[in-house]
Amino acid sequence: MAEGKQGMPYKSFCDFFLMLSGSAFLAVLASQLLFPRTTDANSAPMKGVVKGCDIFSGEWKKDSAPAYRNSSCKFISSPQDCLTNGRPDTGYLYWRWKPYSCELPPIDTRKFLNSMRGKSIAFVGDSILRNQMESLLCILSKVEEAVLVYHDEAFQSKTWHLPSHNITLGLIWAPFLVNSTEAKSKKDLQIYLDVLDTTWTSQAQNYEYIMLSGGQWFLKETTFWENNTIVGCHYCPDKSLKELGIDYSYRRVLRLALRFLSAADHKPVVIVRTWTPSHFEYGKWYNGGICNRTMPFKEGEYNADPEDAVMRGVELEEFQEGLANGLNLKLLDTYHLSLMRPDGHPGPYRRYHPDLTKKPQEDCLHWCLPGPIDTWNELLIAILMGEEELRFSL
Ligand SMILES: *[C@@H]1O[C@H](CO)[C@@H](O)[C@H](O)[C@H]1NC(C)=O
Ligand SMILES: *[C@@H]1O[C@H](CO)[C@@H](O)[C@H](O)[C@H]1NC(C)=O
Ligand SMILES: *[C@@H]1O[C@H](CO)[C@@H](O)[C@H](O)[C@H]1NC(C)=O
Ligand SMILES: *[C@@H]1O[C@H](CO)[C@@H](O)[C@H](O)[C@H]1NC(C)=O
Ligand SMILES: *[C@@H]1O[C@H](CO)[C@@H](O)[C@H](O)[C@H]1NC(C)=O
Repeated sequence: MAEGKQGMPYKSFCDFFLMLSGSAFLAVLASQLLFPRTTDANSAPMKGVVKGCDIFSGEWKKDSAPAYRNSSCKFISSPQDCLTNGRPDTGYLYWRWKPYSCELPPIDTRKFLNSMRGKSIAFVGDSILRNQMESLLCILSKVEEAVLVYHDEAFQSKTWHLPSHNITLGLIWAPFLVNSTEAKSKKDLQIYLDVLDTTWTSQAQNYEYIMLSGGQWFLKETTFWENNTIVGCHYCPDKSLKELGIDYSYRRVLRLALRFLSAADHKPVVIVRTWTPSHFEYGKWYNGGICNRTMPFKEGEYNADPEDAVMRGVELEEFQEGLANGLNLKLLDTYHLSLMRPDGHPGPYRRYHPDLTKKPQEDCLHWCLPGPIDTWNELLIAILMGEEELRFSL
């Protein structure tokens, strides 16, 4: 266990990670789902539109300074603190997301905090959401530094408060969103597809805004339970169980989570953040894969991992289903813009001054802070501000 900046135990890279599936049917899916480039964002549900502009459809443009400096933010966990850890190149800090049909205004932190006064927002999910929360805390800290007011034993779920704006930010650890044996062991994971994880459902009524996302946990070897019975599994070659495929559990879980929220008396604004792509090259995470690019991809230069594309597809479908059920739902579709940023990961610099001659295991999934993940929050803020403005005009 390595220590995070604030003394929190940091889950080891191996723990976090997953075995990637070799299911044969993926090859078929792959041929159909290789990322359809420019059409992709256009065919996405238009809930990311802020005042007529599809903010997810755009390009990375060279210019601006990062949203904050590593030295000015104490919330960055050490495995994402690439500058301090000795990453030599800094070009990845100087890119700005430019939607094709509008300009994103620079984040007006003060205005955002004022518009959120007295409100609360929860991020529910895994370590990628923690990564995003730390970015948000850094962005906000330019105006007000958050105060940690709660953490669970393992420092996985945390709550912060911004006293002068009376804003609550919750990070709720629920990597599967449903009950699982994850807390006991990362091996032989059992997940209960019809039982939501009460870690988040018990708190949902406390938040006006709830952002959900799933991630690479759903790619792991998992045994699926429904109605107290094993119904199948994923990536379980050694078990005489039915292989239900890469997307089975994620689809069930997202649907259940969104149905729970649409049935609740309390009606939060729900934000679904899309899948985060990884960028391992020259191998997978477990056999020497690396991410040493120092520039974004250009359109057409990359191929999405077919598994990532499948999972994002599930998210878009369940998002539509949630809309049909009357949820106040927003899509934070960070998938495409993130896909173009292979240069934004810690790689070997997830550790302090790594010895590169020893070919340390790389992290090509989480994001450096500062880094491209700051843009996710820039877009989140644009969406939430749009929401506030909408409310005021009603
Ligand atoms: C910030 O990054 C620089 C390298 O660019 C490093 O020298 C410095 O120690 C870092 N500061 C902190 C407080 O981590
Ligand atoms: C802070 O916000 C909460 C709602 O989140 C509200 O109940 C409370 O009264 C507010 N406190 C102050 C001091 O305004
Ligand atoms: C979920 O798991 C927890 C801990 O393993 C258990 O106490 C709880 O009863 C489970 N919830 C349901 C509804 O099965
Ligand atoms: C769950 O299992 C019980 C008993 O095994 C059965 O009676 C019931 O029909 C099942 N429910 C569903 C939804 O499958
Ligand atoms: C990345 O690593 C590969 C394999 O070691 C090497 O061929 C390539 O030149 C490296 N690229 C950069 C930008 O360093």
